[in-house]
Amino acid sequence: MTVLSQAEWYDLTRQTTWTPKYVSEDELFPEEMSGGRGISLEDWATYDEPYKVVYSDYVNTQREKDSGAYSVKAALERANFVKDSDQGWVSVLKAHYGAIALAEYAASTGEARMARFSKAPGNRNMATFGMMDEVRHGQIQLFFPHEHTSKDRQWDWAHKAYHTNEWGAIAARHFFDDMMMTRDAISVAIMLTFAFENGFTNMQFLGLAADAAEAGDHTFASLISSIQTDEARHAQQGGPALKILLEHGKKDEAQRMVDIAFWRSWRLFSVLTGPIMDYYTPLEGREQSFKEFMQEWIIGQFERQMLDLGLDKPWYWDEFLRALDETHHGMQLGVWYWRPTVWWNPSAGVTPDERDWLEEKYPGWNDTWGKCWDVIIDNFANGKPELTGPATLPMICNMSNIPIIGTPGNKWVVKDYPHEHEGRLYHFGTEPDRWIFQQDPERYKGHMNFIDRFLAGQIQPADLMGGLQYMGLAPGEIGDDAHNYEWMAAYQKAAAE
Ligand SMILES: [Fe+2]
Ligand SMILES: [Fe+2]
Repeated sequence: MTVLSQAEWYDLTRQTTWTPKYVSEDELFPEEMSGGRGISLEDWATYDEPYKVVYSDYVNTQREKDSGAYSVKAALERANFVKDSDQGWVSVLKAHYGAIALAEYAASTGEARMARFSKAPGNRNMATFGMMDEVRHGQIQLFFPHEHTSKDRQWDWAHKAYHTNEWGAIAARHFFDDMMMTRDAISVAIMLTFAFENGFTNMQFLGLAADAAEAGDHTFASLISSIQTDEARHAQQGGPALKILLEHGKKDEAQRMVDIAFWRSWRLFSVLTGPIMDYYTPLEGREQSFKEFMQEWIIGQFERQMLDLGLDKPWYWDEFLRALDETHHGMQLGVWYWRPTVWWNPSAGVTPDERDWLEEKYPGWNDTWGKCWDVIIDNFANGKPELTGPATLPMICNMSNIPIIGTPGNKWVVKDYPHEHEGRLYHFGTEPDRWIFQQDPERYKGHMNFIDRFLAGQIQPADLMGGLQYMGLAPGEIGDDAHNYEWMAAYQKAAAE
């Protein structure tokens, strides 16, 4: 039997579609699931994904990727890197797995939405592979941390985090529910794959892989680079969808989706990736600063992609560039200060050497954020450690669910962006967060952030212990300083002298 060459059958398979006869097009592709936006099936059939793959090649490649990552893990298991590595790095791993593993698993539902409901055959084809990718990412990122769960309960949060009401888990869940679980197929293609995956996951996966390799953690480096090769493929589903929207005069809507998803992604990264790159990763293992990674991956690459497609830079671009110098420093200070409320042990990352590095990468750091750390250090030196932990709760943004912060010191700029809707007063950390709410109040108005729940009496007893219990943080899981406050010794010695 003669076998056709791939070139002869490939386009037929990737574009397989049909004309519905027994049901209407709307029954086959309900608008709220498909998001066809009045564009005809013929026009959606012109969707042309840049990265093409067939099932037999896909499974072969995936098998190789999995066996590569799993064999690096097996080979290095006895070396037990985690046991001997810097505790700041251990915290990077715990924070990453808890924030990412189950979101990956959930992402397979977002991919499934496109695989079933997208009106573009090429999108459905790509998303079928994307769905399998995300199942793999969920599984592998639960399997790798699992070996450590017998030693330390915080590792269990790789699986547990998304099942709790821990504040960071609420923030991440609100974000992913908005981008990938509750929108039509075309919105998922644009908001999840174009803005978030294509725009941001390179940062988390390649940036962090570079840091991991520098820090000597080859198991984690090979795991997350293996994941990113899948992301790089299925993240390309958004571009061709955007192209079709633009060709049909829907630029405003396309731009709005990108602007919303980009800002929401940035806010999540400012609390997760920023601190772990600039404060948790051991100094000698830092490949670049968070800001330098952002400039390379986001500003260099994503900005160009937007413009090439015919989109504009988001309206808040100047504010975004400014925030690169600020937001994650505030998040770091807040997460370290409220350290009992997270499932990992935050690293302070402010030894004298580290401060020199921060000042070099972020001129003015000592004069602003450094001043707050000075107060913490003084309180320790003066025998008042109780003043270095939380007695109250921070204000939390009603969109990003992360603290509302500003730059301390002489340039103090902390600002709330309030908005009243149907008699309820909402608080936002930035103008774009408020703007996102205003685009679709019906979608967002019912959500209660951690502070709203506290004020509504849902958290009892209404104190730190009640809060920790509500967040699911049991003894042995509650965060504390990654280095057991040893970094304070240099300052105490200096003070004694
Ligand atoms: Fe993924
Ligand atoms: Fe993905």
